[in-house]
Amino acid sequence: MLKINSNFLNLKDSYLFATVGKKTAAYKKEHPEKDVIRLSIGDVTLPLAPVVVEAMHKAVDDMSRRETFKGYGPDQYCYGYESLIRSILGSYARKGVQLQPSEVFVSDGAKSDCGNILNIFSGENTVLVPDPVYPVYVDTNVMDGRNIVYMNANAENGFLPMPDEGVNADIIYLCSPNNPTGAAYSREQLKVWVDYALKRNAVILYDAAYEYFVTDKSLARSIYEVEGAQQCAIEICSYSKTAGFTGVRCGYTVVPQALVREGVSLNKLWARRQSTKFNGVSYVTQMGAAAVFTEEGERQISENLNYYRKNAQTIAQCLDELDIWYTGGKNSPYIWLKCPNGMESWAFFDYLLENANVVGTPGSGFGKNGEGYFRLTAFGSAESTREACRRIKALLEKK
Ligand code: MLT
Repeated sequence: MLKINSNFLNLKDSYLFATVGKKTAAYKKEHPEKDVIRLSIGDVTLPLAPVVVEAMHKAVDDMSRRETFKGYGPDQYCYGYESLIRSILGSYARKGVQLQPSEVFVSDGAKSDCGNILNIFSGENTVLVPDPVYPVYVDTNVMDGRNIVYMNANAENGFLPMPDEGVNADIIYLCSPNNPTGAAYSREQLKVWVDYALKRNAVILYDAAYEYFVTDKSLARSIYEVEGAQQCAIEICSYSKTAGFTGVRCGYTVVPQALVREGVSLNKLWARRQSTKFNGVSYVTQMGAAAVFTEEGERQISENLNYYRKNAQTIAQCLDELDIWYTGGKNSPYIWLKCPNGMESWAFFDYLLENANVVGTPGSGFGKNGEGYFRLTAFGSAESTREACRRIKALLEKK
């Protein structure tokens, strides 16, 4: 008899952002006249940088002519075009990290790779995840039936948990700057994690999707800035937040050649997995992505990043004026705040939606330590962010 993957029955009914979306849609249906501002899912609102658009237009033209038409991508680097891979290597080199082309795998985004990378690890591994955490890390491991151990991220440790020598883990998830809390590790803190992983032969899955938001020079933008990391870490990156690619879909995952477990190269396993289950990212998308890390591309995306940083400042100023505790927003597009008056996360969600018509993400959706907290994103438009803050202030000042 056919058997389903019964691990799925251990998942929550719906993915966090789907629940937020459903609740928002239900409110909108009941109150069509209301102007609801969404500062919930971290989805960008600015258009692509001109240099990216130009490169994509040119790539479309290439596809229209027999002499320049492209079918499947080159199989040498699992369908990643060398020009894109070289531009990614250039971005790493500017952080002082030297990588080889064969260590970079182009993907359709960090979320897919966060889940897919688990294919190369046994279901018997124990996984260590911070709480609160980006729900994808937990849900993808629940789907595989892995044992999950949580580490507490809280106000006491600045939402940056450090290793507990008493805990044994095989796979460790770190996300810095963090989704949802916006907290970011320093190189010294990451070195402690790298030493912990090396001692246990564990592998760190390092989600660096928000690295381009880091401005503080003491904070790491890549785990490979830390000595020893190439022996224990896989880094997952994305153009989504860096260059507004949430709707375009492109990312990259680095699996160093030096990463060997049980005598087997994890780079070889991942290449085998990708060449079997993935046919690459479209040529047009890859050419657009290759324009991002050019000199002009970096200049243009930094204008967009600064726009979102200003939104973060607007939100931070509003919270300062209301005397509400928060973290993040400085090296991150997320602001993680304590719900006022001891409210629970979902109660605050409803309160804001109904009384200010502003949607955020309840902290408890990211784990039990998120209860009583709330996440706002800086990815909205400047106008809607200002308006949301005006409404939040008017509402909470009254209380
Ligand atoms: C978020 O809001 O946490 C992110 O947009 C989700 C994602 O990148 O998949």
